[in-house]
Amino acid sequence: MTARVLSGVQPTGNLHLGNYLGAIRNFVGLQDTHECLYCVVDMHAITVFQDPKELAANTREVAAAFIAAGVDPKNHIVFNQAQVSQHAELAWVLNCVSRMGWLNRMTQFKEKAGKDREKASVGLYVYPNLMAADILLYKATHVPVGEDQKQHLELARDIAQKFNHDFKAEGFFPQPEPLIQGPATRVMSLRDGTKKMSKSDPSDLSRITMLDGPDEIAKKIRKAKTDTQALPETKEQLEGRPEAANLLGIYAALADVPLEAAIGQFAGSQFSNLKEQLAELAIEKIGPIGEEMKRLTQDPATVDAILADGAERARAIAEPIMAEVRHKVGFLGS
Ligand code: TYM
Repeated sequence: MTARVLSGVQPTGNLHLGNYLGAIRNFVGLQDTHECLYCVVDMHAITVFQDPKELAANTREVAAAFIAAGVDPKNHIVFNQAQVSQHAELAWVLNCVSRMGWLNRMTQFKEKAGKDREKASVGLYVYPNLMAADILLYKATHVPVGEDQKQHLELARDIAQKFNHDFKAEGFFPQPEPLIQGPATRVMSLRDGTKKMSKSDPSDLSRITMLDGPDEIAKKIRKAKTDTQALPETKEQLEGRPEAANLLGIYAALADVPLEAAIGQFAGSQFSNLKEQLAELAIEKIGPIGEEMKRLTQDPATVDAILADGAERARAIAEPIMAEVRHKVGFLGS
């Protein structure tokens, strides 16, 4: 079987360093060895209300981020989910394979729905089934994601297995492997090292976004929370020091070195030294990507053409697989 990569990013604004280091950056390297599909998951985004104009702009922005980071939309496929209607169609079938009990365990739903679960959209609840459809629609074998998507990937594996079992189609859907790679699979908030860096944190200082300029990047790193001790000498000494672990992890990921190397470089020094060098490195690595994103989004027609072309090529892979699904399920006319 060919190794096929699929991953998705939601167009919900504030694309940040966590999205880049945990996912998008890893998309790039996989292009040398795999056939890759990278999807802007607009249908996932609307599980929480999105202003339609902003959704369109954010969709282009995520596509621009993929390309600016080094994804090649000619040799691989960049598209937005809503243009390939088979995602919704397979999601319905998988809604009928997936179990309530499985979805009830999803921690991300619990976090996102908050206290008033009755008011959450039904879409937010079945969101992991749509994510399984995104992957299985292409029989993707590898899925690069950050740590927070691990549970959803496990669910996708369970759904694949149950579909194969229920429809007596052993091996039809492969078991997708999560690829959770690098020293920054879970980038934490710059204001609180115990909270994940997220698009929805009310504090702008909590995250570095892909569009931040040098002054903003430097300011956010300067203001990042620290503790009062000098930086540790070993990985074990990071235990109980979430802010030190986070800043060193980010540094290692941006410098493309193992965490141990970053620890060695700053062992015994003050946070101010790390912050100074981290700001310099972040500006060097993130700045040009943000600039290229701005350039691309100023030309929406070009981005739209890339997405339309990607969608056409995605449909060409998806439709024969969807046709097999219809047939297996017993839908007439298929
Ligand atoms: P989303 O849009 O929340 O995030 C996009 C990617 O960024 C990663 N990520 C992080 N990595 C490290 N540290 C962080 N603080 C951080 N925050 C986010 C996420 O793990 C993700 O890889 N459900 C998915 C989107 C999706 C998808 C898919 C992914 C839909 N269908 C199919 C893979 C395959 C999501 O909401 O990601």
